[in-house]
Amino acid sequence: MATDVPTLHTDLPMTALPPDFDQAYFRSALGRFATGVTIVTTETQDGRPWGLTVSSFNAVSLEPPMVLWSLSQKASAMPHFLAAPRYVIHVLSASQLHLAKRFAHGPQEDRFRDVELARSAGGVPMLADPDTAAWFECYNFARHPAGDHTIFVGQVERCGRRHTQPLVYHAGDFDLTPSIEPISGS
Ligand SMILES: Cc1cc2nc3c(=O)[nH]c(=O)nc-3n(C[C@H](O)[C@H](O)[C@H](O)COP(=O)(O)O)c2cc1C
Repeated sequence: MATDVPTLHTDLPMTALPPDFDQAYFRSALGRFATGVTIVTTETQDGRPWGLTVSSFNAVSLEPPMVLWSLSQKASAMPHFLAAPRYVIHVLSASQLHLAKRFAHGPQEDRFRDVELARSAGGVPMLADPDTAAWFECYNFARHPAGDHTIFVGQVERCGRRHTQPLVYHAGDFDLTPSIEPISGS
């Protein structure tokens, strides 16, 4: 290997350096990553539906099928998602913007007011709204605390999807994607 190629600075400590940016700048940089928007629902141990808007959803593994999302340590939902054996992640379509907003604020009772619910095969209360772009029923496989969030890894037991325009979140605001292509074979 050529000796004049720059290498990693091995003189740096083997721990992370403090950030060279402030939190507002970090948030703004993260906001450049466009995401979809989901609502994650579960049931509390005393039988109440619980849910929140989440954009940190992502794919992890095809075999076995796994996904992840992260939950703020401050969220009122934390004890419920730590205890729940299963939850459902709903990927929202553009027509569900009102639900994305509602499930990000306010008391839980208000979030589910006039929202039609169904039961997943595993017994989780889920949105019955046929506009939902996709849903994943997950076994609560693993939880990894990381900073001020906990990463939840879900093993997907059932899922569904339909052809619809997705809801997109970008730069701290909801957005609409310009167009969609048909899903082949649907
Ligand atoms: C577009 C969008 C994405 C969000 N994504 C997340 C997320 O990935 N993780 C999270 O913990 N909170 C996320 N939130 C914030 C939660 O929805 C919000 O803090 C939560 O509903 C508050 O509920 P609580 O008052 O019951 O704790 C997001 C909010 C919005 C509007």
